[in-house]
Amino acid sequence: MDPETAAETAEAGHANGRATPSRESVRQLLFGDRWDYAPAPESTAHVRWAKRYGHFIDGAFVDGTDHFASINPATEEVVARFATADRKVVNRAVAAARRAYEKRWQPLSGAERGTFLYRIGRIIQERARELAILESIDNGKPIRESRDVDVPLVAAHFLYYAGWADKLDCAFPGAKVRSLGVAGQVIPWNFPLLMAAWKIAPALAAGNTVVLKPAETSPLTAMRLAEIFDEAGLPPGVVNIVNGAGDTGAMLVAHKDVDKVAFTGSTEVGKSIQRALAGSGKRLTLELGGKGANIVFDDAPIDQAVEGIVSGIFFNQGHVCCAGSRLLVQESIVDTVIEKLLDRIATLRVGDPLDKNTDVGAIHSRVQLDKIEELVQSGVDEGARMHRPACRLPDRGFFFAPTVFTDVAQSHRIAQEEIFGPVLSVLTFRTPEEAIAKANNTPYGLSAGIWSDKGSKLFKIAGALKAGVVWGNTYNQFDPASPFGGYRESGFGREGGLHGLLPYLEVR
Ligand code: NAI
Ligand code: MG
Repeated sequence: MDPETAAETAEAGHANGRATPSRESVRQLLFGDRWDYAPAPESTAHVRWAKRYGHFIDGAFVDGTDHFASINPATEEVVARFATADRKVVNRAVAAARRAYEKRWQPLSGAERGTFLYRIGRIIQERARELAILESIDNGKPIRESRDVDVPLVAAHFLYYAGWADKLDCAFPGAKVRSLGVAGQVIPWNFPLLMAAWKIAPALAAGNTVVLKPAETSPLTAMRLAEIFDEAGLPPGVVNIVNGAGDTGAMLVAHKDVDKVAFTGSTEVGKSIQRALAGSGKRLTLELGGKGANIVFDDAPIDQAVEGIVSGIFFNQGHVCCAGSRLLVQESIVDTVIEKLLDRIATLRVGDPLDKNTDVGAIHSRVQLDKIEELVQSGVDEGARMHRPACRLPDRGFFFAPTVFTDVAQSHRIAQEEIFGPVLSVLTFRTPEEAIAKANNTPYGLSAGIWSDKGSKLFKIAGALKAGVVWGNTYNQFDPASPFGGYRESGFGREGGLHGLLPYLEVR
């Protein structure tokens, strides 16, 4: 018997005067707190990787020096060691990208370039399982997400931009378009493969070549992507990957022979890059932090909204720039929403990222865990009320239980600063005008969500929000055809869709 029928039968039995269990006791019986899941670990037996990596330059894996370790945040074990690119290595990579741009990539027709992108997308699909496992090991995200969200979107991005490669002349009617040259791209650790795809696919489709620097705490899958480029027969030098930390990133973006810089990461580093590039004539796009408002009106489908609130903040442990980290609930329904939300959060399973039942995996690093703990403590100190389900966290690795704060004031740090973890701050509002004012009361401007039964209201509010992406009755939905990016301290420029080609083209 399905749960609903069981509960209804219980009520019908009661109406007949028979002694039947209450709806609540049936719910307890069916979903009760004691529902334990047996471990369901994804097998990693068939996945191999090296213990040491250098860089990928001019179509070859090259050795490097000054290796650092990337760890598995769920076990704190070393996954592999990666070299640090110094100025000489960065120079080599940029020179390779320049040669490839002039001699190999630029001379091809758009259709020919598209063929490589299609091939890359297909190989990613074929090797999806291996990529998902490696991503979860090096990053800590649940396999359910790397398998069902990250990797399929990575393939979709290459396939989507493959389609534009031979249609650039029709993309911007009446204008002539030209590629820019060499793109220097720096990406973060929260979606290692997906951010690589967001950067590389449009750059190549538009006819540019690339030097990419992955984040130093999650470089493993970029090296696997390099193997895939090789397997796809991508001409040498079209994509080069250099490993290293912030210093390497800074050398890459400031390199005099880089024509276009694309960066995703912290607002602080984004600002420093913008300062460094000022007056250089280089093209720049920045995709930075956020403090997204998820707004729930009293006419919203509440159960659906609760699911959206949960995926909005607990997806990828909340390591999401567009996370719905500020929940704005209309005052008349706040008690119901909070009750349902806390009920729902109690069912989230936190733990081994490689377990197929896991909802919330490992916090990506010790540094990030410290930052989350510090901000959560500030919430407690400033007088917000903390709610957290009883949940057992693994003994090893970096984990943090899903946390909700109520009684949050707009001035609290947890309402203002990006926590980048599984922590939700709940505020209330009375009127649509107040919702808009509170949602926009942030230095950021990346994302927002609106939950309402009324389409006209939804569109009106969406137009008043200062956010690059606004979801209606859903949250954290991504599609390669849909542009993504922010305003204000969330950065500028768009990735995805037709808009995502613009930063990589000169349109005249
Ligand atoms: P970060 O901005 O330092 O790192 C992102 C990337 O930039 C990495 O590849 C890093 O090596 C590189 N980098 C660092 N300094 C650089 C420089 N001066 N020039 C060029 N590249 C440089 O971010 P971090 O320290 O990993 O995270 C700090 C906070 O930033 C997080 O707690 C979160 O709030 C936010 N963040 C936002 C992201 C987003 O998707 N918008 C992604 C990652 C972090
Ligand atoms: Mg790692």
